[in-house]
Amino acid sequence: MSAGVRKAIVPVAGLGTRFLPATKATPKEMLPVVDKPAIQYVVEEAVRAGLDDVLFVTGRGKTSIEDHFDRQPEVEDKLTGDAGKADLLSRVQASTSLARIHFVRQGEARGLGHAVLQGAQHVGSEPFAVLLGDDLIDERDALLTEMVGVQQRLGGCVIALMEVPADQIHLYGCAAVESIGETDVVRVTGLVEKPPTDEAPSNLAVIGRYVLAPEIFDALRVTAPGRGGEIQLTDAIEALIDKAGEGGPVHGVVFRGRRYDTGDKADYLKSIVRIAADRSDLGPEFRDWLGEFVADRLPHGDPAEPITP
Ligand code: G1P
Repeated sequence: MSAGVRKAIVPVAGLGTRFLPATKATPKEMLPVVDKPAIQYVVEEAVRAGLDDVLFVTGRGKTSIEDHFDRQPEVEDKLTGDAGKADLLSRVQASTSLARIHFVRQGEARGLGHAVLQGAQHVGSEPFAVLLGDDLIDERDALLTEMVGVQQRLGGCVIALMEVPADQIHLYGCAAVESIGETDVVRVTGLVEKPPTDEAPSNLAVIGRYVLAPEIFDALRVTAPGRGGEIQLTDAIEALIDKAGEGGPVHGVVFRGRRYDTGDKADYLKSIVRIAADRSDLGPEFRDWLGEFVADRLPHGDPAEPITP
């Protein structure tokens, strides 16, 4: 059995152009999903999977992420004296006590592989997780926990895969796989970053969760720029496929649960509606309203006049 998985790398240096102008002065990772920034859900997921150390790979304009995971004594002091605010106080403090949080700057935007490589010194020689901030996995679906378990059992690297429609595979890394006789775990035999539909080896997309062997850092150091002229994590993982015991093999966990791409506007809205509707405090009132709203608009109600974005 390989060493336990304790550390996570979370790349957050990306620009968030898809959400402009909202992301002009606010990092995309800080956009709220109900009442927490999207990035906090990602850290909470890592903690639920047993990780206790998170390294953010950040860039210019991202300091509010550091502030969010830091203490805020002025607000805490104010809430401490107010018995009725105890719940709010614990929610404010929660983000600061989730895990040990560290930051390193990427410096130049040279791709996801380059971002992960910035964590080499911090991670050292243990297997570790990578969580991409745009992907939210519903907390009832323990994907990362399962991936950590597979890595401990089979060694090497483990990536999360999800079936997507053929016309969307060009947006993702794509895996060729073979069965190992298990329902949701497959061996990865090939990986290609964002292939055109007619060159995709399958409809299995790489989604933003990885549990990687430390040998990935050496692979990244010699990975030439790939798709988009960037150093691709996908290419470095592909290089480990045949290296059993030296970073390989690579397995995929096929995820069939609820995933939201918060970098996509429609999916971002779905994540908010889903989480709000299921929350014990907001859910009852919100579900009632939602039911009325949907009955009013669909299928026979007149849609309201469109609002110009
Ligand atoms: C990155 C990876 C890609 C993966 C995707 C998942 O792409 O390079 O392989 O499928 O994340 O969200 P990005 O979406 O950052 O362009």
